[in-house]
Amino acid sequence: MTSILSDIDSTPLKVLVGASLVVGACKLTTTTLSYLALLFDLFLLPAVDFKKYGSKKGCWALITGASDGIGKEYAKQLAKKGLNIVLVSRTQSKLESLATELEAQYKVQTKVVAFDASVDSPSNYIAIGKAIEGLPVSVLINNVGQSHSIPVPFLETEEKELTDIVTINNLVTLKITQAVVPTIVNSVKTKASSRGLVLTMGSFGGLLPTPYLATYSGSKAFLQSWSNALAGELKSSKVDVELVISYLVTSAMSKIRRSSLSIPTPKVFVASVLKNVGRRCGAQERYATSTPYPIHALMHWWIENTVGVYSKVANTLNLNMHKSIRIRALKKAARNQKKE
Ligand SMILES: NC(=O)c1ccc[n+]([C@@H]2O[C@H](COP(=O)([O-])OP(=O)(O)OC[C@H]3O[C@@H](n4cnc5c(N)ncnc54)[C@H](OP(=O)(O)O)[C@@H]3O)[C@@H](O)[C@H]2O)c1
Repeated sequence: MTSILSDIDSTPLKVLVGASLVVGACKLTTTTLSYLALLFDLFLLPAVDFKKYGSKKGCWALITGASDGIGKEYAKQLAKKGLNIVLVSRTQSKLESLATELEAQYKVQTKVVAFDASVDSPSNYIAIGKAIEGLPVSVLINNVGQSHSIPVPFLETEEKELTDIVTINNLVTLKITQAVVPTIVNSVKTKASSRGLVLTMGSFGGLLPTPYLATYSGSKAFLQSWSNALAGELKSSKVDVELVISYLVTSAMSKIRRSSLSIPTPKVFVASVLKNVGRRCGAQERYATSTPYPIHALMHWWIENTVGVYSKVANTLNLNMHKSIRIRALKKAARNQKKE
C-alpha cells in the first residue's frame, strides 16, 4: 500500500487512494469472515441437540400446516427427536392418519386440531388453547402458508387469493403465536424445558421482492420483521425465535415433484433446518434468521454480497423469471382445458 501511495504526487489523490484501499481491505475482511462463518455453520458444526428444547423430557411441539409437505416432515423429524406433537392443519382425516403413524413409529403422544387458517375465527385459537391446556409445549413451528396459484400481476390478483394469503401467512400465524407462546414461556419457567423455540417459515419470495408474487412476497417479508422483533422480546424468557428462509422445496405448493441439488425434498430440507437451529448459515447479516439448506445458503449469501436483495438487477431478473413462469402456466392451463 505504501509503495502504491509513494508513486502518487498529488496529496488529495494520495488521501483518496489511501482511503479507498483501507475501505476495500475492510470490506474484503468482513466478506471473507462472513463466508467463513457460513462454511463453519453449514459444514463444521455438529447438529443442534434438541434436549435443550425438551426432547425426550415429555415436552410438546405444535406444528401448523402439519399434514403435508414441509410441515409433515417437521412433525416426523421432531417426533423422531422425542417430542410429543400437536398437529394443526385443515384436514382432520390427514391429521389423524399422520398422528397414528407418529405414535406407532416414534412412540410419542399426539393431538390434532383441524381448522381453516384462511378464516380468522376465535374458535381456531380456542381449539388450540384447549388442545395444549396443561401440556409442557416448548416448540412452535409456524409453517402454514399459502402462495399464489400461479404468478399473477398484483392488479389482477383475485380478492380471495390476496385475502387468504395475508390471513394465513400473517394474521392467523400471529394469533396462533399469541395463543401458544405463553405456554412455551411457562414450560421454560417451570423447567420442563431449558429453552423454548419458535420457528417461522420465511421464503426467498420474502427475501427478494418478487414481482408477480407481490402479495406472497410482502407477506413473507412481513414475517421477517415480525419474527426478528419477537426474537428480541422473547430473548430474556429463553425462547429462541427464528425465521427460516428457503428457496424452492418439492411440495404441493411449489408444484415441483422432482428434487435436484437446489430443490430438496421436504425431508432433506427439514433435516438441514433442525441441524442448524440458532445458526445463520446463508443469512449471515440477519439476526434470528437462518437459511440452512446448503445450496440455498450459498445462493442467499451470494445475492446479498453481490447485487443485493433490493437491487434493480435482482428485481428485473425476478420479474422476467416470474413473467415466463406465468406464460407457461397459462399455456398449460389452456392445454388442459382443451383436453377436457
Ligand atoms: N415448497 C416451497 O418451495 C417453499 C419455499 C419457501 C417457503 N415455503 C413455505 O413453507 C411452508 C410450507 O409449504 P409447503 O410447500 O410444505 O406447503 P404444502 O405442501 O402445500 O402444505 C401446506 C400445509 O398447510 C396446510 N394448509 C394449507 N392451507 C391451509 C388452510 N387454509 N388452513 C389450514 N391449513 C392449511 C395443508 O393442510 P391441508 O392438506 O389439510 O390443506 C398442508 O398441511 C409455507 O409457509 C411456505 O410458504 C415453501
